[in-house]
Amino acid sequence: MVGNVKHLQFDGVLVLGAGLAGLSAALAAATRQVLVISTDVLGAQCSSAWAQGGVAVALGVDDTPRLHAADTVAAGGGLVVPGRADLLTREGPAAVANLIRLGAPFDTDGAGHLLQSLEAAHSRARVARVRGDQTGAAIMHALGAALRATPAVTVWDCARARRLLQDEQGRVIGALIERHGEYTTVTADAVVLATGGIGGLYAATTNPAAVRGEGLGLAAQAGAVIVDAEFVQFHPTAMDFKVDPAPLVTEALRGEGATLIDANGYRFVVPLDARAELAPRDVVARAIHRQLLTGGGAFLDARAAIGARFPDAFPGVFQACMAHGIDPRLQPIPVTPAAHYHMGGVETDIDGRTSLNGLYAAGECAYSGVHGANRLASNSLLEAAVFGARAGRGAAALPAGAALGRRAMPADAAPDLPEAALQRLRAAMTRHAGLERSAAGLGSLLTLIGELSEVHGEPPTLTSARLIVEGALARRESRGAHYRSDFPQTSLVALHGRVTLDPTALTDAAA
Ligand code: SIN
Repeated sequence: MVGNVKHLQFDGVLVLGAGLAGLSAALAAATRQVLVISTDVLGAQCSSAWAQGGVAVALGVDDTPRLHAADTVAAGGGLVVPGRADLLTREGPAAVANLIRLGAPFDTDGAGHLLQSLEAAHSRARVARVRGDQTGAAIMHALGAALRATPAVTVWDCARARRLLQDEQGRVIGALIERHGEYTTVTADAVVLATGGIGGLYAATTNPAAVRGEGLGLAAQAGAVIVDAEFVQFHPTAMDFKVDPAPLVTEALRGEGATLIDANGYRFVVPLDARAELAPRDVVARAIHRQLLTGGGAFLDARAAIGARFPDAFPGVFQACMAHGIDPRLQPIPVTPAAHYHMGGVETDIDGRTSLNGLYAAGECAYSGVHGANRLASNSLLEAAVFGARAGRGAAALPAGAALGRRAMPADAAPDLPEAALQRLRAAMTRHAGLERSAAGLGSLLTLIGELSEVHGEPPTLTSARLIVEGALARRESRGAHYRSDFPQTSLVALHGRVTLDPTALTDAAA
């Protein structure tokens, strides 16, 4: 039991998470009072701020939202919900215009038109960026400033949700928040979950360490319906410098012509797919994974494509390489796939509503239906902006006083997974729930999760890991980012996996 617990009855919307989805939700909900819970100082330790690749948006003269939606559906391995992809891509231009209005300094040409670049599996150059690889940081800087200037919004820095609070009917009415070692039960009219993904559950990841599925686990423990948890995207090109987390090498380099080579300079992806380095992420990531298993090395060679332009064109990647003794103007960059993005998540409708009354979700912790089995590059920031704002508006539309008079069921803080146990779990997740999976490996992983649970109870991180592993075991096929070495075929019919820890919830879940 936690000790002294304060109570705050907050007459407004509680937003858990301060990445792009959280801040978009908060700004959209600011017709009401909003309290934002940020795990670090605002803008730090969230994947959005680390995003290099930009925002995919159909703004070119040769482009349309319909084409963008078609590429999104094609990349998603049969599991993208077409209506959701249409909505995302239709609302994309307005969402980007809003980011610009809030101060995001996207790269433009002399005439003020957005510069847009090509990334894998896009049929058009449609990725808007800020200084090559600074997009996420610049957007978060602009939104952070906008948030601080919004009187209706309060931010609690360096705080985290330790449990969702529910009344007797299961309605989410707030959260138990830990801040500077103190606990506060915050009840609110609506709660928006925007806690990010699960990359930190893997030993090799491009995500900040704190991003390890806590929000997903808390929502699952509260009984929310979770969809397609097994679909984890591995970015093909993280820097292989044996550091944790692994710095990203943006796909934009391949968009500009950088190639993947082995130690002898051979382009090993070319024979595997006609699109070569610009094949969808799952194809390229598996090719690199297998190449590394041969011992022949995998490198991204940007010497000819970028060369002397590197420091200005991709300053973040350039600095990270130089810090590890590689000059990418002169040397190929050693690369490895790393856990990057979670396509599955808490089921939501188009306004972010989850299967639990009072709980909304947006961004990487949510399942919005737009990514399917394999997210299209640079669709995640767009999704966070579009669906984050929709969730914020939806939450703000709940009547004032929605949680008034409702009593929270007693709820203690969820346990934490101690560091040594977490590291064991991460190593096993990379080994057995990574780019290639099998019943034997996944089974041993479930055994480990069971052992850890016996000792440490049910930390939300462990719940999230279990959902991914059980989903991967249940999906006896290979599709998109989920590859089963014992079931390499793709089933004719693409089916979603919907699960809940509360079996009564499946009947009335949000569709
Ligand atoms: C990248 O820049 O390659 C990452 C973009 C993304 O994950 O969409």
